[in-house]
Amino acid sequence: MRPTRPVSSLSEDVARGLFSAPRSLPPKYFYDERGSLLFDRICDVPEYYPTRTESALLEEIAGEVIGHSQPARIVELGSGTSRKTRHLLDACDRMGCHPLYAPVDVCDEILVISGEALSVDYQWLDVRPLVGDYTAGLGNLPRREGRNLVVFLGGTIGNFAPGDARDFLREVRTTMSAGDSLLIGADRVKEPDVLHAAYNDDAGLTAEFNLNVLRVLNRELGADFDLGGFEHYAHFNPLESRIEMHLIAMRNQVVRLDGFDGALEFHEGDNILTEISCKFTRAALEELLVETGFEVDRHYESAGLKFSLVLARPA
Ligand code: SAH
Ligand code: TRP
Repeated sequence: MRPTRPVSSLSEDVARGLFSAPRSLPPKYFYDERGSLLFDRICDVPEYYPTRTESALLEEIAGEVIGHSQPARIVELGSGTSRKTRHLLDACDRMGCHPLYAPVDVCDEILVISGEALSVDYQWLDVRPLVGDYTAGLGNLPRREGRNLVVFLGGTIGNFAPGDARDFLREVRTTMSAGDSLLIGADRVKEPDVLHAAYNDDAGLTAEFNLNVLRVLNRELGADFDLGGFEHYAHFNPLESRIEMHLIAMRNQVVRLDGFDGALEFHEGDNILTEISCKFTRAALEELLVETGFEVDRHYESAGLKFSLVLARPA
């Protein structure tokens, strides 16, 4: 998908994010093929409740969502392996509604892998993958006649800072017309212990996933990060109502990157913020949607109010 705004390169993002304090990196760089497959494994660890919870809820409501939205096309933002989307496709099939499916993701490898699997399992499905950065503008999403259902799952909206989440949803809204629907999943505020465990699984997959971004920098920028020199650290910040994911330097170290004059200096304890994952109350989620030009049609909540799926339409 062609960007509608200039997209900064990895070098520019590193220059901005790592060569000034506080250090941070845009989360999209986790998702090379290895990162996407690691994330898919995180979805199955016992502590990571969001995927299971959202999937069970989506399975329950899929018929109603499809009946209500009657899509000619399903556009999914950040589709990954499209695992949960299968509940929507199953409902479509049951109801004799055969929309086109346009998954959008930065990771081309995962689009190919999941597109092929979907085409085998859903012979009727026309899959039109779009590779690109959805933060670089949605103006070049192909236009289509008929109703669109825009799907944004996984609580990925929580990976935006609040102002960016608003800008993003406003932009999603501009791609939609009367009759279109948005289905958005968001993780809910809950006991800090449960949140903490979800981002610190015992098998260490989340740690591996977090460190993957350094591997990407080593490969793409010829950097020489020693992955053993950094540790995964994730904690819930109750004041901001979000998980904050960091990589912490375990000792003093100097990292060189091709094309950069100065080296990167880390002192023991220095950190890089690699991801935030905001957790919502029911009210905050609805307010976000209303503020960005949507009207809430249905707000579905999982058992125990762990996760929300909201079906909304342009106001
Ligand atoms: N929807 C899936 C995957 C969530 S993980 C689920 O609910 O399990 C987030 C997904 O968004 C990944 O597949 C990642 O590659 C993609 N992604 C992250 N940042 C992106 C960006 N800026 N543009 C497009 N896709 C992005
Ligand atoms: N959208 C996922 C979330 O916020 C992304 C995620 C899950 C993630 N586990 C992670 C990102 C670990 C970085 C590290 O839950």
